[in-house]
Amino acid sequence: MWAPVLVAGAFSYSMKRRSFLKNAAFLTGAAVAAPALKACRLAPDSPSGAAPELPVSGNFHFRADGSFTVLQFTDTHYISGDPRSRRALECVKEAVEAVKPDLVIHTGDIVFGRPDVESAKEILRPLAQSGIPWAVALGNHDSQFGTPREAVFQAIRELPGCVNLPPKEGVYGCSNDVLTLSGNKGVERVFYLFDSMDAVVLKGEEEIHCYDYIRHSQIGWYRSHSERFTEMNGGRPVPSLAFFHIPLPELQEALAKGIGPIAGNNGEPPCPSRLNSGLFAQFREMGDVQAIVTGHDHDCDYVLPYGSLYFIYGRFSGGDTIYNHLGLEGYIPSNTHTAPGTVSGCRLFRFREGVPGFHTCVRLQGGVIQQPLDL
Ligand SMILES: [Fe+2]
Repeated sequence: MWAPVLVAGAFSYSMKRRSFLKNAAFLTGAAVAAPALKACRLAPDSPSGAAPELPVSGNFHFRADGSFTVLQFTDTHYISGDPRSRRALECVKEAVEAVKPDLVIHTGDIVFGRPDVESAKEILRPLAQSGIPWAVALGNHDSQFGTPREAVFQAIRELPGCVNLPPKEGVYGCSNDVLTLSGNKGVERVFYLFDSMDAVVLKGEEEIHCYDYIRHSQIGWYRSHSERFTEMNGGRPVPSLAFFHIPLPELQEALAKGIGPIAGNNGEPPCPSRLNSGLFAQFREMGDVQAIVTGHDHDCDYVLPYGSLYFIYGRFSGGDTIYNHLGLEGYIPSNTHTAPGTVSGCRLFRFREGVPGFHTCVRLQGGVIQQPLDL
């Protein structure tokens, strides 16, 4: 898998290390949406009583002290039986046991080799055994090792504690889910999970071969929920966060304008799809999404404000099966695939009932907290 690019020798070092691993995604085909099975439904408060129900994957509530903590893992790139993955498993176990969050979201690239389903089960086992609800937004690598995306997703969904619903009929991808967080006055937060899929090839005079993009069906799905939550909230958008694997092209645009992170490490350029299908514009139009939370670019764990919302990277949670160069003190320049001294971690989000903003920080394996921000 590595040989063609390494032998070609036409890429810079950084291209070899970063882009090829990602470009491996382009070797696989895309999945199609499977039929919907059943859905947990949250009945909205409807003055007329005639409003349709909203399917949500989970409706959570603040703790008695008014707090709610979401723990985000990303890019564990786990391979069962591979000692290079030991750190990933330890990272996940340690964080879940120490933080005791109310919800865990894994933003994809869960696995990075065969046996893929067994690898997924193994790295997600600390979640499945924790008694804490959790969900995934699949990454581009999660269906590249033999098992179709729907089957990987189904195997994950069968694990205890997983709240993802089956793929939604007519909505592109698998892991598109809506989670809500309610207080005494109703839904105060919505967490949208999108499946940013793998790769796409558009044939034609100029063939386009790039990371996949968020499709119209997913945007329509998001909009229908967003509109309904706004309606339920008396016409005011409900503060929301969007979680998915591959960042949006607008992050490149922000960086090109000279807008930089307000916290965190910026160790590599973002690698979004070349195609922009307008999800960012929809978020702005609907006015509810405060932050776009992704993974994918392992050497980034920053927070960057762009207009009314934030681009937020999770902290790489994997081991040494793939490139990673974030250490305790930040990005470690290195000519090697992985650098000695790298530290895996996760990102936390803390919400308080009645408070529209949120707190976020990076937590390194072992407990060091970095980048505490109240946004
Ligand atoms: Fe990754």
